Amino acid sequence: MLKAQQIEISERLLRYKETNTQAMADAPFVNPVSIYTDPAHFARERELFFRQIPLFMGLSSRLAKPGDFITNNFTGQPILIMRGEKGELNAFLNVCRHRGARVLEEECGRGKRRFTCPYHGWVYDTSGKLAEIPHSERVGALDKAALGLTRLPAAEKYGLIFVRPTPGAPVDVDALLGGLGPEIGAFGFEKYAHYRSASMSYNFNWKIVQDTFLETYHLPVLHRTTVNPLIDWSVSTFDPYDYNLRFAITRKDFEQWRDQPPAERNVLSQLAIVYLLFPNLTFIWQGDHAEAWCAYPDANHIDRTNIEFMLFAPEPPANDSVRRHWDRNFDIAIATVEKEDFPMSEKLNAGFFSGAQKEVVYGRNEPALIHYHESLRRAMRANKPIF
Ligand code: FES
Ligand SMILES: [Fe+2]
Repeated sequence: MLKAQQIEISERLLRYKETNTQAMADAPFVNPVSIYTDPAHFARERELFFRQIPLFMGLSSRLAKPGDFITNNFTGQPILIMRGEKGELNAFLNVCRHRGARVLEEECGRGKRRFTCPYHGWVYDTSGKLAEIPHSERVGALDKAALGLTRLPAAEKYGLIFVRPTPGAPVDVDALLGGLGPEIGAFGFEKYAHYRSASMSYNFNWKIVQDTFLETYHLPVLHRTTVNPLIDWSVSTFDPYDYNLRFAITRKDFEQWRDQPPAERNVLSQLAIVYLLFPNLTFIWQGDHAEAWCAYPDANHIDRTNIEFMLFAPEPPANDSVRRHWDRNFDIAIATVEKEDFPMSEKLNAGFFSGAQKEVVYGRNEPALIHYHESLRRAMRANKPIF
């Protein structure tokens, strides 16, 4: 984040504290419960948001050298992302052109210059070209050049990789970021390391993952003894960026800033900055590192969600004590959501299906949540890929 923005946010938080308020929406927002329960709505979301528009797939540094790759099956599409020979980013449907097997099965790997389909052994290279057909004389005449892996639009900028899960228009990262580009760029995530990731599955609608992170109203209640002693739930900033948003919260001791000249405040170390990158990514700056929570709806179940959590460190860990520090952060993040947030989310979800109410309410004090749901409405109304 740019220094001027850090100062501006620190001033805003101090002002909120002084006046005993926070970022507020103009009015409470009422949302039909059906956005969480209606199968037809869910089917359109899956098509519009998890097939047609580009999604975050991780950090560029995870694919440092030619042949480094990651796979992602969470969208329902088998995706393979690979660093090419000239350093270019390649993304493909991870589907063998012979009979459709998944060509690379591992979640990630390094230096695979040629890789072999596990079914009959067709061989591909880092550009997706079909390099070899075993026993080709028996298979018969085929146009190998036309049988490369099907390419997916992909782009990387500011250290972030985005892939469109179906073939289509090129990916424009700045358009996706909706004005957040320079500020995300200032963090220098190109140099950050993918430290560790984990995936988990829960019985709730995929949007509830984002809902969980977009307000601090629940901190003094649900997280009374865990997060609340550390974070000041009563002040937060909110700024919309097209479909995205920034929601900044602070550690309790931030009022020391009052005694410091603005340019000398160490703002970033005090803040958790939640970026909601539409539609399914909560990307959080956490004082000295970053985390990503990616939510993916299950292909067949409106109330089942797969979540991928990633922790990014400023550099690869140099020794065990650094490793312990990141592991501790990793474990705390997971424990908080697994013990407190997500079990609660499963209850909300069951509540939505109970017929108790037709609508849920987001308060004026939950402006980030309101913006997220307004963006979802807007994108659903567009009824075509918004990026
Ligand atoms: S399906 Fe891949 S080689 Fe047959
Ligand atoms: Fe929470």
